[in-house]
Amino acid sequence: MRNLDQDERRSGKRATLTWGELSDVKEFSLPSYDPPDDTDLHALATELGIRIWMPDPRRARRWQRVIRSACESTRDRLPPRYATDTSLVPFRPRLAEALRPGLRILDVGAGARPMLPAEVRPKECTYVGFDVDGDELLKAPAGSYDDVVVGDVCELQADLVGRFDLVVSWLAMEHVKPVPVALHNLSRYQRPGGGRFLGYLSGTFSVHALLNRIVPHGIAKAAMQRLHARRPDTVFRAHYDCCWYDALEAIAARSWARAEIVPLFTGGWYFRFSPLLRAPFLAYEEWAYAGGHRNLAAYYLLDAVV
Ligand SMILES: C[S@@+](CC[C@H](N)C(=O)[O-])C[C@H]1O[C@@H](n2cnc3c(N)ncnc32)[C@H](O)[C@@H]1O
Repeated sequence: MRNLDQDERRSGKRATLTWGELSDVKEFSLPSYDPPDDTDLHALATELGIRIWMPDPRRARRWQRVIRSACESTRDRLPPRYATDTSLVPFRPRLAEALRPGLRILDVGAGARPMLPAEVRPKECTYVGFDVDGDELLKAPAGSYDDVVVGDVCELQADLVGRFDLVVSWLAMEHVKPVPVALHNLSRYQRPGGGRFLGYLSGTFSVHALLNRIVPHGIAKAAMQRLHARRPDTVFRAHYDCCWYDALEAIAARSWARAEIVPLFTGGWYFRFSPLLRAPFLAYEEWAYAGGHRNLAAYYLLDAVV
């Protein structure tokens, strides 16, 4: 995937992959929406309740950034990407761009919390919640779904094929296996010639994914409750199947006409509870980020059209 040059960024042009480009994708790509200036960055950080440090162009070497990342963490300041590469910032403009009245939207792995709450949907949208667990869908606020489908995303639902202008999936694909089948099925539910998919998922090689696979589920639930105040019934078993950049890219090549995969290096949120653990983690993450190790990202945003 290529980076945008400055003019393309100003014009708001997006970096997208085409079939032709997929075979020789080598460059690391940063989120392609216009980069905010320093003032915007600080405003975004304040909105998120965090403090960030600004890069010093005189100390731009990788090892300098790695050390700085750890040192700044001890002062409770995060790398600037934590203001921009959050779940919402790269997602929000894409969603805003995709939404319009009358859309048919499918939310996959929607469970108790639709990605788009009813009150913010454009008029006359049809919003379908799809989940393997019908009880989860029932926990959603009243009026969340116009229709529900209970089923496994890995099994093709013939009556959904070609029906949706927008298919969304928020932190669900890491719970699914096999992901290549699931994502291919989702591409089939998109309206031919323009239906869009917007997904956000955890990465296989993120520290939280690695821990999740080592630690027994019961202990993981208790830890999430204690360290992150998460209710146990909001912690689901996860497989993290094919949730890394190269794997997603290969899936995208088979399933969509154009796709953009944005790696997000923001795993430090998981270490909010311990500044002691967060500092070495941020040093490691800065190493991965600055070195373009896109398979090691904590999260990915997937934006694709058929
Ligand atoms: C972490 S929850 C995310 C729920 C919601 N999207 C949110 O952001 O709060 C993951 C959801 O994926 C659903 N899920 C897991 N495996 C699935 C599958 N094979 N097919 C469809 N949904 C699945 C779970 O039941 C759960 O509701």
